Amino acid sequence: MNLADENATLALAQRLAARLKPGMVIYLHGDLGAGKTTLVRGMLNALGYAGRVKSPTYTLVEPYQAAGLDLRHFDLYRLHNEEEWEAAGFRDEFDGRNVFFIEWPKKAHGLIPQADIEIAFEILEQGRNAEIHANTQTGKQCLEQL
Ligand SMILES: Nc1ncnc2c1ncn2[C@@H]1O[C@H](COP(=O)(O)OP(=O)(O)OP(=O)(O)O)[C@@H](O)[C@H]1O
Ligand SMILES: [Mg+2]
Repeated sequence: MNLADENATLALAQRLAARLKPGMVIYLHGDLGAGKTTLVRGMLNALGYAGRVKSPTYTLVEPYQAAGLDLRHFDLYRLHNEEEWEAAGFRDEFDGRNVFFIEWPKKAHGLIPQADIEIAFEILEQGRNAEIHANTQTGKQCLEQL
């Protein structure tokens, strides 16, 4: 899918936000500055979250509540090892109820549940390309008529 500018990314976010279900796990792939956090910000704002959505670069995770959902935004770029993951208690976050947006999921390979949906952003000369993929039945239902 071609996303010509930031507004196109936010429009995709708005459509996705309307289809999120508790427990859903979404992996966000793509280089630095590809638009992963932009998409998360768009989804949270679409759900009615009015505060600032900042990149959880150093905290690794930022929790949100919106539209009756508990959401967790992870950025695992700076996750160093499994010990750090366990020490932070992140394992307990995956209770099947929270919605997860996970940037740099490969950094926690084997520690996080499989994704219902994976979105891979590619930086183009102008705008972005986004490849969206469902791995589970839940994910497929979410993407139907997106
Ligand atoms: N479709 C688009 N076309 C052009 N620019 C875009 C598009 N979507 C987002 N952007 C811009 O690209 C930048 C993306 O930054 P963002 O923080 O979302 O990247 P990120 O993938 O989360 O990076 P990081 O891995 O460093 O967290 C922002 O400046 C945003 O305005
Ligand atoms: Mg980011």
